[in-house]
Amino acid sequence: MAIKRSSKETQTSRKKPTTQSSAGNSEERLLSAKVTTQEPESNEDSIRPQKLTDYIGQKELKKILNIAIAAAKGRQESLDHLLLYGPPGLGKTTMSLILASEMGVNCKITAAPALERPRDITGLLIGLKPGDILFIDEIHRLNRMAEELLYPAMEDCRLDITIGKGQSAKIRSIPLPPFTLVGATTKVGSLTSPLRDRFGLIQRLRFYEIDELTLIVKRTAAILGVAITETGAEEVARRSRGTPRIANRLLKRVRDYSQVKQFDTIDQALAAEALDIFNVDARGLDWTDRLVLNTTIEQFNGGPVGLEAIAAATGEDAKTIEEVYEPYLLQIGYLNRTHRGRVVTQAAYEHLGKTKL
Ligand code: ADE
Repeated sequence: MAIKRSSKETQTSRKKPTTQSSAGNSEERLLSAKVTTQEPESNEDSIRPQKLTDYIGQKELKKILNIAIAAAKGRQESLDHLLLYGPPGLGKTTMSLILASEMGVNCKITAAPALERPRDITGLLIGLKPGDILFIDEIHRLNRMAEELLYPAMEDCRLDITIGKGQSAKIRSIPLPPFTLVGATTKVGSLTSPLRDRFGLIQRLRFYEIDELTLIVKRTAAILGVAITETGAEEVARRSRGTPRIANRLLKRVRDYSQVKQFDTIDQALAAEALDIFNVDARGLDWTDRLVLNTTIEQFNGGPVGLEAIAAATGEDAKTIEEVYEPYLLQIGYLNRTHRGRVVTQAAYEHLGKTKL
């Protein structure tokens, strides 16, 4: 049973989120791991862990980074360049900010699509102070010119600027302070090898376990001043697709629901009720995930069937199915990719309450 609020309290209303222009063409949805809307900055910042000890999950990565931090501090050097890869929403930016805080330096944050012209990247590099971290998101999308400016910067702390054009062009080298480049990507295979080879550390972020996400939900709830039971937090965690960004977003929607319904504690029943209304089912699938699975079952007998055929039958874009919906369905074993096409698994049939004919 959900616990009803005893008295009618009023809460200060939240500022309306402002829309941030998002790269790519994936539509906004509650379960998207991409940053599609920006909560008020202070809110987001207060949720982010500030130190490595506050960061939940990614045990292996933390172990490696702890060693790198201690060694760099011991030598009074900057950290080696670091490439973080893995699905969106798993904490690459957060990790970069934590590294800066642990090293006592600044972190400048940018994304490759914002580095279109030479002066975009040269401006950033020239403004760096010794030891600073430069975080470049979606680094696989850097253009060639920006990438070539980064090579000597990463290797020799040198910025090579071309002055003039054609035969009279000259290269001027500007010394840079030692700095750390943290690159983040969801597509490590799309990086050129010269760029990849210039990172001293290449680390993958993994999907989070339910118990880790439960801890994250409880931590965020405490920061937001929201009362939630252990099983309430677990219910949110189970529906979060292994992704902290989604867990925190779902928690906020459950908080809205509990506020409007005047409950003062979120328990499992209330969390489930709220997330059902938002069409996020017990395993974190939304309407389109279920459409993809149901269509494959009903029209193609569960597969094997090609991606294009699923796209045509569902009316969804093939790239969106592949990049937005499939990764999680593959991760939880509801879908298999074979050389003959996609196949819906027995586990998915059971989840959807269907029997294989
Ligand atoms: N909030 C988002 N990701 C987190 C993490 N990994 N640990 C703690 N809080 C978080």
